[in-house]
Amino acid sequence: MPVKQICKDRNPPESSGFRPDEGLREMKTIIRKMMQPDRKTAEEAARIWRAGGLVAFPTETVYGLGGNGLDASASEKIYAAKCRPSDNPLILHIAERSQLDGLVRKITPQAEKLMKTFWPGPLTLIFEKSEQVPLETTGGLQTAAIRMPSHPVAHYLLQTAGIPIAAPSANRSGRPSPTTAHHVIEDLDGRIDMIIDGGDVGIGVESTIVDLTGDIPCLLRPGYITVEDLEAAVGKIDLDPAIYHQVSANVHPKAPGMKYRHYAPKADMAIVQGYDEAVVSYINRQIALHPDQKIGVLATTENASKYQGGLVLCVGDQRNMAEVAHNLFGALRRFDDLGVDQIYSESFTTKGEGLAVMNRLMKAAGHTVIRLEGADNDSHWM
Ligand code: TXA
Ligand code: MG
Repeated sequence: MPVKQICKDRNPPESSGFRPDEGLREMKTIIRKMMQPDRKTAEEAARIWRAGGLVAFPTETVYGLGGNGLDASASEKIYAAKCRPSDNPLILHIAERSQLDGLVRKITPQAEKLMKTFWPGPLTLIFEKSEQVPLETTGGLQTAAIRMPSHPVAHYLLQTAGIPIAAPSANRSGRPSPTTAHHVIEDLDGRIDMIIDGGDVGIGVESTIVDLTGDIPCLLRPGYITVEDLEAAVGKIDLDPAIYHQVSANVHPKAPGMKYRHYAPKADMAIVQGYDEAVVSYINRQIALHPDQKIGVLATTENASKYQGGLVLCVGDQRNMAEVAHNLFGALRRFDDLGVDQIYSESFTTKGEGLAVMNRLMKAAGHTVIRLEGADNDSHWM
């Protein structure tokens, strides 16, 4: 399937490779608050979905930009609104297990085990797709990614709609995923039909993705459900190399989204690895050497007070990776708002939810790492 480079933007960035949409008309985006399931708003959203429109909504991971996943033209609208390359497939969101059967060709015992253990929740599974799922939704692939969110508002919306909803993260392509409705408004107001404001999301990084189409389950994207959690449920799993390595444009990783530069803040970013003291003194030296630059520091609670200058954003405690994950994307967006020229980030463990944090940070930094003496020589990260 040819990759259509359409983008709902009159002036897409030159580097994006998108053609401008000359026929673009801004639409009025309806914004509704829905902190608890609410029938009237859910029915309004369901009507929009059934008519082929787009509604952004909260999930437990990040906000999603939803459209009818069985309607090829709704999927095309999602790509255009986000300026997302159409070879990057969308995740189908369902409310009930019974919806899965029509979407996939077979359900293995491993899939059953993972669904029983982690659904509803932040785990996306890849299956061979049925005829029902259009190639426009799967970016031309014969497989489909499916997830059943646990967020009460997301669940209620999906149940009310009664159709599988294709939903990527509700950000413009290349920006950090949205963790508040305000982030969605920044990126998509005037480009989609409706935004449902369900407050701050709980987890803050996107779902864990596991491919079940091979003999051994393969982790494609780390998330809140960790390698350790998955292995406790189904035994040994493989890790896709694209989790660690930078993927060049001519390579086809299993999750096509891994080849695009995601989560990128506008400023250059580098991750500094080493003992705490060495990291703090390296960053302080950079701040002192470049008084003309606005330097952002992505810091932990342990070190935040030790920086002498710079715009310091604290994302949480080194021993609480769930807290760091929750604050990460908001901090990257905040650096954009503050107009910093350069960001230095502390480095984190890759254990537990730390793997998701480091995977997103590495992508944000374009894999730029400064390794100081004493850095834990974690050769995974290239
Ligand atoms: O937490 C989440 O998963 C959020 C919320 C809204 O549910 N959604 C999300 O979607 O993060 P998105 O589109 O931003 O990321 C989906 C990722 C992409 O990297 C894509 O390449 C991969 O899933 N993916 C989707 N379908 C796939 C498939 N059939 N095979 C391999 N990778 C797939
Ligand atoms: Mg995304």
